[in-house]
Amino acid sequence: MTPPPTGRVVDLGCGEGEWLQELLLAHPEVSGVGVDHMLPATAAHRTVGRGLQDRVRWIETDASRWSDGQFDAVLCVGATHAFGGLHETLRAVGRHLVPGGQVLLGDSIWEAQPSEAALTALEVTPDALPDLAGLVTAVQSYGFEPSFAHVSTTAEWDDYQFSWSGSLVDWALKEATSAEDREEVLAVAREHRRQYLDGWRQQYGFVTLVLRDALRPAAE
Ligand SMILES: C[S@@+](CC[C@H](N)C(=O)[O-])C[C@H]1O[C@@H](n2cnc3c(N)ncnc32)[C@H](O)[C@@H]1O
Repeated sequence: MTPPPTGRVVDLGCGEGEWLQELLLAHPEVSGVGVDHMLPATAAHRTVGRGLQDRVRWIETDASRWSDGQFDAVLCVGATHAFGGLHETLRAVGRHLVPGGQVLLGDSIWEAQPSEAALTALEVTPDALPDLAGLVTAVQSYGFEPSFAHVSTTAEWDDYQFSWSGSLVDWALKEATSAEDREEVLAVAREHRRQYLDGWRQQYGFVTLVLRDALRPAAE
């Protein structure tokens, strides 16, 4: 993304704020706001470690009710549920964005027709998510045009899932102090891994897009 040199950016549903901090590190005069209703302490800690503390504000509140003028770039990755879904998020993003601004949007898609096992594991119906084409159509219907997109690969998903369940396995088999704790945590890891491998692997996907405001393009 290419915000103006002294621009302002916001990350809605920022979590630890990694996307926001990467953007600030790449653009030394840009400042940012991270908004999350359950802001992890690690967000601010890492900001200090990276020397970004004077350029970022962390706000713990419901992003769907928050506003502070318009931003040169709006980030919302993995957090469209904060607004009630993709369409509501795109509407909200439009309100936070200056004309001609950029958006980093990350959201879930079906990469293939979901199986019954996938739907059961994820506890959703087939119409809960668009496919990639449907997501791009939705984005365009709110006046945005993708200028870049990355669909998470199966290798990336596998790394993520095995690292998630693997950290539980490590804890259970190295740190647990009782057989009961060990079995409980191992059961969670096995169940999660099984739901992924037998359920939604290669069906549930994630796409991260850079969008440009096509309704109100930046003035020449
Ligand atoms: C999957 S995490 C994504 C975090 C971050 N954007 C990232 O990509 O690493 C979703 C985040 O949305 C936040 N969230 C959910 N509902 C929210 C709301 N109503 N207002 C603000 N944040 C919300 C959660 O606390 C969580 O940190």
